[in-house]
Amino acid sequence: MSNKQFDVIVIGGGPGGYVAAIRAAQLGFNVACIDEWKNAKGGPALGGTCTNIGCIPSKALLQSSEHFEHAGKHFADHGIKVEGLGLDIDKMLGRKDAVVKQNNDGITYLFKKNKITFFHGRGAFAKASGAGYELTVTGAAEESIEGKHIIVATGSNPRALPGADFDEENILSNDGALRIPAVPKKLGLIGSGVIGLEMGSVWRRLGSEVTVLEALPTFLGAVDEQIAKEAHKAFVKQGLKIELGVKVGEVKSGKKGVTIAWTNAKGEAQTLEVDKLIVSIGRVPNTIGLNPEAVGLKLDERGAIVVDEECRTSLPNVWAIGDVVRGPMLAHKAEEEGVAVAERIAGQHGHVNFNTIPWVIYTSPEIAWVGQTEQQLKAEGRAYKAGTFPFLANGRARALGDTTGMVKFLADAATDEILGVHIVGPMASELISEAVVAMEFKASAEDIARICHAHPSLSEATKEAALAVDKRTLNF
Ligand code: FAD
Ligand code: NAI
Repeated sequence: MSNKQFDVIVIGGGPGGYVAAIRAAQLGFNVACIDEWKNAKGGPALGGTCTNIGCIPSKALLQSSEHFEHAGKHFADHGIKVEGLGLDIDKMLGRKDAVVKQNNDGITYLFKKNKITFFHGRGAFAKASGAGYELTVTGAAEESIEGKHIIVATGSNPRALPGADFDEENILSNDGALRIPAVPKKLGLIGSGVIGLEMGSVWRRLGSEVTVLEALPTFLGAVDEQIAKEAHKAFVKQGLKIELGVKVGEVKSGKKGVTIAWTNAKGEAQTLEVDKLIVSIGRVPNTIGLNPEAVGLKLDERGAIVVDEECRTSLPNVWAIGDVVRGPMLAHKAEEEGVAVAERIAGQHGHVNFNTIPWVIYTSPEIAWVGQTEQQLKAEGRAYKAGTFPFLANGRARALGDTTGMVKFLADAATDEILGVHIVGPMASELISEAVVAMEFKASAEDIARICHAHPSLSEATKEAALAVDKRTLNF
């Protein structure tokens, strides 16, 4: 056992932790990061859930499966004939793994570049020490290290359905859902949230018959209603079976697959038999093995580390960021918090604007939004104006062959300040950035309407939706 001292120790090397470590190193601190994730060979795999079994591999499979669907269903519209179209699932999964590895290696390189000391193992609080806190590292590295500031970025784990533990063979979390070795004939999903829709889309495109069982009576309740309705229509048309307002009962897993007893919205008893079941009913903050009790670090009733607006915990010089604290479980939210905390440690004024964190669901059509929904504004009693523009009337969307959806602006009735932008349609993930920038600068809808947008581009739909707020679209 050696004893090493650092200015800042980050526990967790996901998007929150590794970005916090880099920013702290840029600010001149002597930084260590502890992360326990293991790759298939037992070696380190920096990047956390996001890189290993989250954002990155899911987007790799979404891309591959979309190519497959285009080749099978849409190339003919462009006059392209495809014969003998087939699927090499091993290669597809192998490509996804290679994309993950590129990202793991990229972070390892960034740690070296920024002179961050990396410990591969589990970090746990041992005790408060003179200079700050003593932590133990167990695993590939066995160390006792000391830090003046500790940033906890230990992420989250999938929530299991009571009575249906994940076995990653039949009952799958996001981990197993990203490595099903052969396309299941029938696939069940519990939860039509972000993971349910993204993973359901992947396997439907590859040929599975997909049924999604959702407890809530409304589809994508957090999304602007008009946008959610449009998305629902598109998913149902594609062949996703989505059952809302269900109550899931007993789940039995056997050699032949999984049988799920459930009741529909009318209260009628139903049975669903599937080859594989993905359970995507949310995630829980992760403090397993962290030993917060050793130093009296406070957790809330959900198991999240209690923090204030600035990510300060109940202990001096201990900070927590990302999925292990309140707020949306998004990689970019974790990153922003990581940067802000490193800057606060340096005495700067790091800031995260929670009102302008964008959300994206990477289905087809993509769904993206920032700011408030129409139902939220109504509930608040805020006077607003709405403007929408359909991709059907956008030249670039027609050329792409993807005219599903719309851009929607919500602006204050009196000041015209943009309060929310909601998009369902092609490349919504990229289009939303303009809205985020606009809202950060407190732009009005008219500001966007007056900016020159390239033609032909999907972004013209954004400009037109801004014009629609003042009822003066040019192309619709
Ligand atoms: P994590 O990424 O979970 O990283 C935590 C790290 O800490 C892990 O490496 C873990 O091994 C390590 N760790 C935990 N405890 C210890 C310990 N005691 N000692 C040492 N190491 C420890 N978000 C998006 O913004 N966009 C997306 O497209 C997106 N897609 C997703 C798809 C899926 C399938 C899933 C599951 C999630 C997705 N997310 C997405 C959410 C995103 O992955 C998380 O919000 C993000 O990873 C949170 O970052 P984090 O740094 O807080 O935690
Ligand atoms: P989620 O919170 O998005 O959706 C969970 C869904 O399951 C909800 O609709 C909920 O009503 C439903 N549900 C809960 N209990 C249920 C039950 N017993 N029976 C039936 N339905 C039930 O959670 P999900 O999809 O697991 O994803 C977790 C988080 O990961 C997301 O909230 C998001 O923060 C992050 N993520 C982000 C992505 C992105 O940004 N593109 C992609 C994937 C995940």
